[in-house]
Amino acid sequence: MTDLQFVVHGAAEVAAVSDADDAGPAAGLETIADGAVAVVDGEIAAVGETATVTRDYPPENAATAIDAAGKTVQPGFVDPHTHAVFAGDRSDEFEAKLRGKSYQEIMAEGGGILRTVRATREADTETLLANLLDHLDLMLAHGSTTVEVKSGYGLDTETELRMLEVIDRANERHPIDLVATYMGAHAVPEDRDTDEYVDEVVDEQLPAVADQGVAEFCDVFCEEDVFDVAQSRRILEAGRERGLSPKAHAEEFVHLGGTQLAADVGATSADHLLNATSDDVRALIDAGTVPVLLPGTAFGLRTEYADARGMLEAGAPVALATDFNPNCHSHSMGFATTLACVGMRMTPAEALIGATRNAAAAIDRPNGPGRLEVGGPADLCVLDAPSHVHVPYSFGVNRVETVVKDGEVVHG
Ligand code: NIG
Ligand code: FE
Repeated sequence: MTDLQFVVHGAAEVAAVSDADDAGPAAGLETIADGAVAVVDGEIAAVGETATVTRDYPPENAATAIDAAGKTVQPGFVDPHTHAVFAGDRSDEFEAKLRGKSYQEIMAEGGGILRTVRATREADTETLLANLLDHLDLMLAHGSTTVEVKSGYGLDTETELRMLEVIDRANERHPIDLVATYMGAHAVPEDRDTDEYVDEVVDEQLPAVADQGVAEFCDVFCEEDVFDVAQSRRILEAGRERGLSPKAHAEEFVHLGGTQLAADVGATSADHLLNATSDDVRALIDAGTVPVLLPGTAFGLRTEYADARGMLEAGAPVALATDFNPNCHSHSMGFATTLACVGMRMTPAEALIGATRNAAAAIDRPNGPGRLEVGGPADLCVLDAPSHVHVPYSFGVNRVETVVKDGEVVHG
């Protein structure tokens, strides 16, 4: 006798995301009217029309049942790029940017990342943990059930390790599954020579992070006046040798070559890509590196968006993320889908795939989260809206009503 853990039934739409059998940017999304999902032992046991699913899995036998009349059931969002561990507040920089200051000008004056580094180094570990848990609560309320979190506001071994420890502890306590990325190469610390700092990252920080086993990925900000391609390569290759899969922030402000580098080193993802060329995109596709687009960052900085349409038409599995950080203060994958549609002309179906299945690929979770299919983990959202289109369509409000993680209601 199996335990029927959860049934949601009578939904206006079940947005079932699975692997694509055929080509096309939104392949793998099936919308089922009057749909239902049944969960047994944390795993999805059935997805289909209510009449069929409830015949085998009667809601009255389930530990929890939800009547989803007028509502939508979709996979929990996967957010594959955040910088959610930090202390301090940079809302005044938001105002400075509105008055015309650029991100780089703020950074050159010691603001931006370096300001968050100062605040984070000064904060005790419990404060960092409490801050992260608060952000995760908001992300969960907006439907994210798996989130990648980077270090990178320590820029010294002790603080980088503390940030990664905080991610690990939050992962144990919070319903969201966390994926940790070491990003000691997020900026060059004040008054340090870049090459000398790269030596520290490679010879001291990376070995310590690898020894503790607290990170799965190694990321680098490959950008003009931050880490050049050669320095970024050194760091990503050193990380890979120590078992950390590469990721790169590439082509955000200028075209430097970080995308080709990401493809070259077999990175799991290349992120931002605002200035990536079609050759860059081809290289990513050939290497199996997932392009992660962060439309919230472009929106907040009022810059051009990445060329999502060009990438999708070339056949790239475009993923979306919030890039939640003090410079891009959005916890909402739903809002990222709005920006993806309005700013980058993605369709709502492409945006949903980008925010779930492709996002899971960007953190090397090819068979688990970001799907709604039989045998997959029961990470779901119930939306107070009649279709998945209403997520990008309803901007500025949160349509997520209930969040289910491993078959348990964890929000709503
Ligand atoms: O991905 N571009 C570099 N890193 C972050 C911003 C971090 C910050 O400004 O604190 C990003 O947007
Ligand atoms: Fe980032």
